[in-house]
Amino acid sequence: MRILNLSNHDITIELRNQGHIIISDPSEEVDAVVCNIDTYKLAPEGVPMFVLLAGGNKMLIWRVQKDYPEAHCYMDAKELVNDITAKVYEVDTSVLPVNKQKSLIVTSYANKGGVGKTTTALSIATIIAEQGAKTVIVDMDYAGANLATFYNINREFMNYIANPELLDRALFKVQGNLYLLPAPSDIIPNTIQPNDVYKILMALKSKFQVVVCDTPPSPWDKKYIHPVYANSDLVYAVVRQEKFSVAEVKTYSPQLMAMGTDRERMRIILNAYNPKLMSLQQIEAAFNTNAKLPKVRIVATVPDSREDHVKALQYGEVLNKDIWKQVTAEILQSLSDEVIPPEPVHEGLLSKIRRRWRQ
Ligand SMILES: Nc1ncnc2c1ncn2[C@@H]1O[C@H](COP(=O)(O)OP(=O)(O)OP(=O)(O)O)[C@@H](O)[C@H]1O
Ligand SMILES: [Mg+2]
Repeated sequence: MRILNLSNHDITIELRNQGHIIISDPSEEVDAVVCNIDTYKLAPEGVPMFVLLAGGNKMLIWRVQKDYPEAHCYMDAKELVNDITAKVYEVDTSVLPVNKQKSLIVTSYANKGGVGKTTTALSIATIIAEQGAKTVIVDMDYAGANLATFYNINREFMNYIANPELLDRALFKVQGNLYLLPAPSDIIPNTIQPNDVYKILMALKSKFQVVVCDTPPSPWDKKYIHPVYANSDLVYAVVRQEKFSVAEVKTYSPQLMAMGTDRERMRIILNAYNPKLMSLQQIEAAFNTNAKLPKVRIVATVPDSREDHVKALQYGEVLNKDIWKQVTAEILQSLSDEVIPPEPVHEGLLSKIRRRWRQ
């Protein structure tokens, strides 16, 4: 997030460590403002306000909230830093009317960890939302959840699986059209029932145009995730280029089919790809061993760039947008009458320089 710091407390480093960009010019557009007792009256209007009253008296909270009832007040800088993203992203559920339009479920898949399932889900969700579709990304990797961390939301998440009535309140709005449903904090994965996950999925489908599911490794062993594959309109099987890929990919299609995804709905993403090391044909052939069944295609080859990916994670950004735009074109197309493209945003000179500098 872009945060205007009008406090004289030195929390800039902590906020930067959380991936935020600190602004000191009050005329710039920002997502939140941090101020103190001397500066809260100078904060720009319409921007979520965080007042740090460290070392002060608790009575000051009353003073600030008398003038600005919406202000978030903190006596402790650490608490403010931990809470700021979640507070800004908190959803006003009244803005989530029922989606009467067509909706799609798209899901990432791989038999093991660390191959790029989350990167794929995040990239697809971000790009579709940027193109105007109301989208939710759902963290279904209950034992290894990390989407909230990507968005720097550090807090406990309510258990909307045990208590489905909490679902609306568990959502966060992370960018214009993009919402996040984090994994509940206190969930024990092997107690989840397939029907619980199915109900969540259908409830989200009634609110969003696109539901993007980030899934756990080895979904084959996790019964609760099977309904997700059975009900997905598209499944992106992520293959990371390495010695074992060809052998592993041979099991992908049979396992996906056994969970209920037919081959027309499968797509292959070849991640961390280097053309010098492996041919695309080898991977496609391993996926398509049964010539009688419809062929599954590689829809993207994503280059190997470790350093860029680590940097992008730090700043909550998505890389290779052109590649993901091509991948998501078919999703947008099938929603085409119902997606309103956003107005183009003209990037200011300052933010252009800052972005270049970060690259
Ligand atoms: N094309 C790429 N080049 C280099 N690094 C990448 C690439 N894609 C993803 N990574 C990095 O690889 C790591 C694992 O990616 P990711 O978290 O998306 O995998 P995953 O399959 O979701 O893993 P897990 O099963 O642990 O959830 C991340 O640090 C990510 O930044
Ligand atoms: Mg993951």
